[in-house]
Amino acid sequence: MCGIVGYSSTSNSIDLSEFVSMIKSLDYRGYDSWGFTFKDKDHLTTEKQVGKIPTPTQKGNATFVIGHTRWATHGKVTEDNTHPHISNSKNISLVHNGIIENYEELKNKLKKEGFTFYGETDTEIIPNLIEFHLRNSKDILEAFKKTLDELEGTFAITFLHNSSNKIFFARRDSPLVVGVDKDALIVSSDVTSFIDRTKNVIYLEDGDYGYINSEIKILNRNKEVHREISKIDWDVDKAKKGDFKHFMLKEISEQVDTVKQSLMQDSELITAVANRIKSSKVYIVACGSSYNAAKAAETEFLKNGLMPRIVHAHEFEQYEKFLSENSTVLAISQSGETLDLIKAVKTAKSRGTQIISIVNVQGSSLSRLSDQNIFMNVGPEICVLSTKSYTAQVAILMLIASALVIKPNQAKQEIEEIIRNIYYLTSESARKYTKELSQILRYSNHIFTIGRGRDYATAMEAALKIKEVSYIHAEGFAGGEIKHGPIAMIEHGTPCIVFVPNKENQDILSNAQELKTRGAFIIGISEKKHEVFDYWIKVVGPDKFSPILRIIPIQALSYYLAVMKGLDPDKPRNLAKSVTVK
Ligand code: F6R
Repeated sequence: MCGIVGYSSTSNSIDLSEFVSMIKSLDYRGYDSWGFTFKDKDHLTTEKQVGKIPTPTQKGNATFVIGHTRWATHGKVTEDNTHPHISNSKNISLVHNGIIENYEELKNKLKKEGFTFYGETDTEIIPNLIEFHLRNSKDILEAFKKTLDELEGTFAITFLHNSSNKIFFARRDSPLVVGVDKDALIVSSDVTSFIDRTKNVIYLEDGDYGYINSEIKILNRNKEVHREISKIDWDVDKAKKGDFKHFMLKEISEQVDTVKQSLMQDSELITAVANRIKSSKVYIVACGSSYNAAKAAETEFLKNGLMPRIVHAHEFEQYEKFLSENSTVLAISQSGETLDLIKAVKTAKSRGTQIISIVNVQGSSLSRLSDQNIFMNVGPEICVLSTKSYTAQVAILMLIASALVIKPNQAKQEIEEIIRNIYYLTSESARKYTKELSQILRYSNHIFTIGRGRDYATAMEAALKIKEVSYIHAEGFAGGEIKHGPIAMIEHGTPCIVFVPNKENQDILSNAQELKTRGAFIIGISEKKHEVFDYWIKVVGPDKFSPILRIIPIQALSYYLAVMKGLDPDKPRNLAKSVTVK
């Protein structure tokens, strides 16, 4: 979940402050610490710092430079553990994303060979292992290949050697792409680092390794391979904040457009997916908010006679024995890089299972592994939290869930009718109430969120949003479940957010009453005001689309809670946008 970038000039060198901005554009992937190494003649110069990347102050230019922004896995957030990592001879500087599973074994082997280590990371063994293999290899590439063969786990790697005018790279189960600019080749975890320079990109495949200098050389299984150049089809402005203070608020506001954009789908494909769910075993596999989106659409699937199995990607192993050529995995992911999901999809694919994905990032690992893609069309989501991608996923799943009952165009029209409700919910006037509520809740230690039926998933997603950005403990429950344990937590003033439908599941009001009797402060999210509420947020719209509508005020509430507590809502602590580790 770290960000990597390596820049090799083909004509002009790069200003280091510009290079640091490229690393900064990847900081949504990790922001514990950062660093870079540039090559000047035969000398490597490295700078590293703990903390977020400041506005660049570096001076000078470089022709070959690699950089990294870290999300710590092995080893605390210290300068020693910050990348790039330097080999014992100081000839190699290397950055890595992923986890080397057999690093302890390799470290012991290297120690026996006389190597020493300054930090706690798994990464530090890699430059030293390359150095070790250089003793008996004809060139750096051969030593690198021998090193790769010994590594177990996942990685994207780039490194510099002081004697070579090349940036070496490799990928296995971690994203890595190469930007092809007119005066540079740029190897990176993501296109965001170079989108304002070039839209030409080469998507590297698993097992690819090689180098960039004035050209690119890619090998896979010891053979040179050619990878096509693709065009990135989104605009750089979409990845900018514009007039908004934070990406989170911008992305919440964009939902009035993005829900509509997500409905631009091939009706035949949508109907085909629905038919598959009816006639064969379909597993919907996802993590985090993407999983919640699937659960939010479950009621609609069930109502229409469809029963897909919805499974967390990290729990999918237990289902693998049931996979066959007759089954389908419907994978849901904003990034298309979530490692647990990629692993599940790869296993399913190896059993001949059909892979269909609902994915936002075109060219992502998931989109390339899938037999068919349903793109979410919401543009880049930069804030670490899913907001617009969540509602788009729900909207697409609702289309699929309805496809065998009503015509896809009619389903689209129905969803389009709620756009004006979304317009109101994302407006400044509606946000006034969530802002006011955030003032009431900002000192709370716990917030409980409760829903029944389709609102149960909304309660889960609401709790996730609140806790991940405001660090207030929040937990979501099914209304019927609270009396089986959670009600013991209720004290005088405990905030409970209750999602109340217009017609369905009116028992939720009794649950709210049970909570209020024990002292809870009831915040109702509903179309009508009920007596049991201590605070009310009005959300107008049909129950069927509750999962899209009722989550929006909670996204805004979470945003204001973070801002009010002086936190950065775009980059909550300990989190990263693409979860590319197990
Ligand atoms: C929460 C959030 C995460 C992601 C999860 C899956 O706001 O963003 O829970 O939903 O990490 O990510 P994707 O959808 O990229 O597979």
